[in-house]
Amino acid sequence: MGETSENKEEAIYPEGYCPAVDIPVPDPNVRNQLLHLILSSAPEEVVDTDLFAVMEKRRSTRKFLDNWVEPSKVDKILAAADMAPTAGNFQGFEIFYVRDHNKKEKLVQACNNQPYVNAPVVLVFCKNPKRVKLNFPQEILEKFAVQDATLAAAYSQLTAHALGLSSIWIGMLDEKKVMEIIGTDLVPSSLLCIGYPQKKRLPKPKRNLKDLVHVT
Ligand SMILES: Cc1cc2nc3c(=O)[nH]c(=O)nc-3n(C[C@H](O)[C@H](O)[C@H](O)COP(=O)(O)O)c2cc1C
Repeated sequence: MGETSENKEEAIYPEGYCPAVDIPVPDPNVRNQLLHLILSSAPEEVVDTDLFAVMEKRRSTRKFLDNWVEPSKVDKILAAADMAPTAGNFQGFEIFYVRDHNKKEKLVQACNNQPYVNAPVVLVFCKNPKRVKLNFPQEILEKFAVQDATLAAAYSQLTAHALGLSSIWIGMLDEKKVMEIIGTDLVPSSLLCIGYPQKKRLPKPKRNLKDLVHVT
């Protein structure tokens, strides 16, 4: 748990999320026991476990089926975020898993009326620079926190694709409105809206790798 007040912990870890699997007897000597259990357990369907294929084929979706997303897949998506590297391993971010339908509707408005924000799974990635216990100016800690949150969301996005889901990354958001809706004083960096895509589409064209890379 974070170094926050009791009230904030409640806000950060809302009631209602418990992974589909649990550890009957936690072993303090085993590192990341729950994460290992979630990440290594067989999901209902894995489309691709080849990282390179996942990266190559991933495509954003703004039209989702109404189908629910299996809790074991949500667990994996969340566990992937927890495995992302972070500055000093302080994990300067939090995830809000929005399940309340009214809150999702409000998030649509808070995100410039983008209707697909009301997706089967909605995750808000927030910065939590207070967790980053490094001796640097606040400005740097803020930068670390936004990078932590962004990288975690990217891990989740790739995992969603690997599980046969699709997603849309939402950066166009009104920070204050989102904070009010999810009930936190932590600033959001992005939303990840996830579900089964109505259509599977080809990846978008990219610029020539030779134009992207600058050797100095
Ligand atoms: C930082 C960032 C912010 C984004 N914000 C939005 C957004 O607010 N709304 C949206 O529809 N898509 C948003 N996207 C999705 C991009 O438009 C999309 O990833 C891009 O067009 C490439 O398409 P692809 O993901 O299918 O490869 C965002 C993506 C990133 C990385």
